[in-house]
Amino acid sequence: MITTADPSAETLREAGHRLIDRMADYLDGIESRPVSTPHAPAHIATRFAEPLPLTARPAEEVWDDAWEMVVADSIHFAHPMYMGHQVAPPLPHAVLADTLASLLNQSIAVWEMSPTGTLVEAQVIRWLAELLGFPATADGTLVSGGSAANLTGLLAAREARFPGSWTAGVARTPELERAVLVVSPHAHYCIERSAGLMGLGSDAVVSVPERDGRMDPAALEEVLRAVRREGRIPLAVAATAGSTATGLFDPLDEIADVAARERVWLHVDGAHGASFLLSDALRHHVRGIERADSIAWDPHKMMFMPISLGAVLVRDRRHLDTAFQQKAPYLFHIRPGEERSRDMGKRTLQCSRRFDALKLWICLRHYGANFFGAIIEKTVQNTQLLHHRLSEAADFEPAHAPEANILCFRHLPDRLRDTSDAEIDTFQAAVRERYNASGRGWITTTVLAGRRVLRVTMMNPHTGGEHLDRLLEGLRETGQSI
Ligand SMILES: Cc1ncc(COP(=O)(O)O)c(C=O)c1O
Repeated sequence: MITTADPSAETLREAGHRLIDRMADYLDGIESRPVSTPHAPAHIATRFAEPLPLTARPAEEVWDDAWEMVVADSIHFAHPMYMGHQVAPPLPHAVLADTLASLLNQSIAVWEMSPTGTLVEAQVIRWLAELLGFPATADGTLVSGGSAANLTGLLAAREARFPGSWTAGVARTPELERAVLVVSPHAHYCIERSAGLMGLGSDAVVSVPERDGRMDPAALEEVLRAVRREGRIPLAVAATAGSTATGLFDPLDEIADVAARERVWLHVDGAHGASFLLSDALRHHVRGIERADSIAWDPHKMMFMPISLGAVLVRDRRHLDTAFQQKAPYLFHIRPGEERSRDMGKRTLQCSRRFDALKLWICLRHYGANFFGAIIEKTVQNTQLLHHRLSEAADFEPAHAPEANILCFRHLPDRLRDTSDAEIDTFQAAVRERYNASGRGWITTTVLAGRRVLRVTMMNPHTGGEHLDRLLEGLRETGQSI
């Protein structure tokens, strides 16, 4: 059957109402589901082995299949026992805004394909810049997430430090051979990847020694001087505001002092923690962020937006204008009366780009900035409460005091006390694996100072004290079964 009736308004109305009802039921019943699938990838893969469908099938049947084949074995971020990676249960109005963005399908590369979308994005960027305390010279763009934001900020730094390197390339910019990126001890891997992508080589990344899990500003000064003594050139200092592993914040104000003294570009990876600016109680963690030259900020983490929504901001828009430099007369235009093109594609890695600004614009206008501060605070309070409970328990050991909504710890039942480090490490990994497979909850793991630890990120403001009790109970029972 070939139908020309699709896409039609009626299809959208009927299927849409059904889908939205089902999505709301999904949220209502979220706690009756296992947090994630117990099945191995190979088992799930058998469902997705059907040959290419050549003929039509009733839409209802296909949607039913989607709920059974896809949704049922998804990981459920809206479940209050989900405490894993930094992925949010998205705000309902953001989910709806994403649907509208798909319907409108504005292409944010150029103003003429997104006459309002471009301006909505510009407004969202101005709001973020205002929250940062950036000057009026600032600008930014939305990107796919922290990786793209960090790369863009560092590309801006590269062109600022070595003007003309975009055009000349790595081969004809000899200074680039000596360039070094000086980074947080716990920098996200995408910073090193940026060094590779920018032609510096991942060997050009120098990690600053830590002090209490954060970049040590005194050590930063020594590293910068040592790098210079070796005849190398610091391209930028990349600090982290909310490290992935522990959520700890580098002391940005002190780092900014060093960067200013040493005249080095300061980039802050605030993918996780820049959103703490929205809370009066938590803002102090990012004091000094306003002194950065470029900042990565992911609303798809602590602003509870659906993936994807990242942002990169620079304090002087001229640096964003030179981070990428292409002419495309079929696409980019300067209109009468404009000094600078409004076409966002000139300033981002991507050309076609979703209208991601819409969800943040709608949510900021609907909920207001204070609401975001309040729900971030709730996730941090949960983390502090968990830290307190772990500290009181004889069979758990927190690895650090939390600053954000991330906490690492170990489960150490009595019978492990006299076993080797290797056995204790293996036990942590086994507990995590088995606990997650049970569907009762979902946590992550990492390695800190060479030792395997359990790790939680409290992403769900609906998580409460009773869920923390269930976490400890679940880990204990899992531990006993190993
Ligand atoms: C500090 C930090 N930077 C960058 C990233 C990468 O962000 P994305 O996954 O959005 O590319 C993450 C993600 O976990 C992060 O925690």
